[in-house]
Amino acid sequence: MRSTTSNSALPDTSLKEPTEPLTLAPQHIAIIMDGNGRWARERGLPRRDGHRAGAESLREILEACIETGVSHLTVYAFSSENWNRPPEEIKALMSLLEHFLKEKTHEMMQRNVKLTSIGRTDMLPKKTRKQLHLAEEKTANNTKLTLNLALSYGSREEIVDAARQIAQKAAEGRIQPEDIDNNTISAHLYTAGTPDPDLLIRTSGELRLSNFMLWQISYAEIVISEKYWPEFRKAEFHQALDTYRSRHRRFGAL
Ligand code: IPE
Ligand code: IPE
Ligand code: MG
Repeated sequence: MRSTTSNSALPDTSLKEPTEPLTLAPQHIAIIMDGNGRWARERGLPRRDGHRAGAESLREILEACIETGVSHLTVYAFSSENWNRPPEEIKALMSLLEHFLKEKTHEMMQRNVKLTSIGRTDMLPKKTRKQLHLAEEKTANNTKLTLNLALSYGSREEIVDAARQIAQKAAEGRIQPEDIDNNTISAHLYTAGTPDPDLLIRTSGELRLSNFMLWQISYAEIVISEKYWPEFRKAEFHQALDTYRSRHRRFGAL
């Protein structure tokens, strides 16, 4: 089992047998929810319907995470590159997000789920930002699971923002360049204070990271599902967990 407090790129492996198969659920799962558009196209539906079906998958996977004892779920919902999509699609995505937040806040309260977000969320439309802010505020004291939405998120932007903050502190003499280490970087990322993901899932069979959590997933196990995100439900989630458990995490040791 990995350290629960480590925020470093090199997790503490000293307490476990390095080649021991994993028996416990991952603490933090990150998901690149991909394939909504292709799912819709194959059914002759507009892309919007794919995104709507994808929101249903998110609801189900959130439930599965709670049942399994996962404490952090980070989902890639909108990337900084997704701003390059046609305005109608962006509008549809934002409206679905507002709807999701409005509709699910009550359920998140009942299920003790805390909602957080990472990314340049100040770029979101005002209405979306408002719903996000309300949901974050309302669920702030919940403790069972943190659902972290990556919105207008890009990992390189996140690292740039961290570098700027650290440089600013150095310029003001509040930090010495030689004192900058892994922990300094981690502590200046949007994810500061949360454990690194143990498991990264990408759906729809794509084999790339698309600018997602480049720093944080250094030692995550990667599971690619061939299913489109709207088809990724509890059965597929448990299959991914089985794959994760069958891996031997070595963290560079023997
Ligand atoms: C993922 O599905 C959702 C977002 C990126 C917002 P896509 O919209 O990327 O679906 P495909 O990849 O075109 O099938
Ligand atoms: C990644 O999917 C972003 C999200 C899932 C939100 P994309 O569909 O945007 O990524 P590419 O274009 O396949 O790399
Ligand atoms: Mg895609």
